[in-house]
Amino acid sequence: MTRPTPKSFRVKSFGCQMNVYDGDRMAELLTAEGMAPAADGADADIVVLNTCHIRERAVHRVYSEIGTLQREDGSRPMIAVAGCVAQAEGAEISRRAREVDIVVGPQAYHRLPELVAKAARGETALDTDMPAASKFGALPDRGRQQRPSAFLTVQEGCDKFCTYCVVPYTRGAEVSRPWGAIMDEAKALIDGGAREITLLGQNVNAWEGADDTGHGQGLDGLIRALDQLPGLDRIRYTTSHPNDMRQGLIDAHRDVEKLMPFLHLPVQSGSDRILKAMNRSHSADSYRRVIERVREARPDIALSGDFIVGFPGESEADFEATLKLVGEIGYAQAYSFKYSPRPGTPAADMDDQIPAAVMDERLQRLQSLINAQQHTFNQTSVGQRTTVLLDRMGKLPGQKLGKSPWLQSVHLQTDAPIGDLIDVELVSAGPNSISAVPAQ
Ligand code: SAH
Ligand code: SF4
Ligand code: F3S
Repeated sequence: MTRPTPKSFRVKSFGCQMNVYDGDRMAELLTAEGMAPAADGADADIVVLNTCHIRERAVHRVYSEIGTLQREDGSRPMIAVAGCVAQAEGAEISRRAREVDIVVGPQAYHRLPELVAKAARGETALDTDMPAASKFGALPDRGRQQRPSAFLTVQEGCDKFCTYCVVPYTRGAEVSRPWGAIMDEAKALIDGGAREITLLGQNVNAWEGADDTGHGQGLDGLIRALDQLPGLDRIRYTTSHPNDMRQGLIDAHRDVEKLMPFLHLPVQSGSDRILKAMNRSHSADSYRRVIERVREARPDIALSGDFIVGFPGESEADFEATLKLVGEIGYAQAYSFKYSPRPGTPAADMDDQIPAAVMDERLQRLQSLINAQQHTFNQTSVGQRTTVLLDRMGKLPGQKLGKSPWLQSVHLQTDAPIGDLIDVELVSAGPNSISAVPAQ
């Protein structure tokens, strides 16, 4: 069936921040092709679902979302499935959901315009290549973006092959973007109004490259160079692997004022037996030592992590080792997930899969500990004078929302515009947010 070439688009991203970044870049690409973003809630001629494959539930969401795109008159927009489900399932998607017109993987989305043209001609439009030449060179330059806090992907892919994880298959091998391209993009983001940049990668602290003078650099070198860019106030990075947490990066937390005191460092489990079965290639103790060194460099650092409960073979004692580790570290926030068996990963075929009821119970215990730690962390911030980068309007009249250096959500009454970095005093804390007043 041929279809008219779309004039308006909507991109909806699921999953991690790298998908948010890719979603923005796809939107910029479609805009450069002459399409316009559909107004909020309005119908679009093409809908791009930028999907996540990390857990089974994430995949289900995509298929149920496709179902909702049918219009009352029986017609539907052109539908593109992008992202990690596209890479993992490929042509299977159009068999399972016949409405899907385009399937495009995370390393091939620069070819979206050709795929739209193909779909308009009624041809199969599938591209899950991982071309050697990076997509970044083929994407339009960053447009004028309005968000005060911007994402910048500097590293993609993963070579670690944790036994539960699909990312090495959906995103491909670890690749670092070149120094010059990153610096140019950072400058464009700052020109477009960004005051904070979060460097992104599946293993962002594994970034490596050569600087302008040909010297080998790690992520810390990149951070120190960004620190010199006028107009940039805050630098963050995520997500990191404990084994790539090199001393230079830890030192940057001590030396670079613009590098925010926040570290997301997933550990997954506190049990060495489980870490081994996960192929994490670090122990609970080596993780503790990394955290100690980071805290030495930056005593006020806020820590975050990821945890999986119910990995195959996890005993009550293994799980208690996780609770013990969390108790010792003291997180400012953390994410915890029930293990989800993923097709094609080694852990999916392991014996001793854990019953759902046991996973539920463990998840609840872990989450109540993490929630309590988050509340405590927020309470200990009360009374501090600090800065907040205003990034959104609040629900109440005159209320603005923003983030503290420790990535807490802060709300306050102020006339200062979105995008301002303002001095505040933190006055009271809830489990999920902090209330502040402008500093006198
Ligand atoms: N590269 C990052 C993040 C990868 S995905 C890292 O290693 O930290 C984000 C998180 O999803 C992981 O840290 C892990 O906690 C969780 N995750 C990945 N695969 C999962 C699975 N099969 N089941 C449950 N949680 C999973
Ligand atoms: Fe997945 Fe492990 Fe790679 Fe993280 S390090 S993306 S959890 S394989
Ligand atoms: Fe999901 Fe792919 Fe990110 S699987 S978590 S969108 S890398």
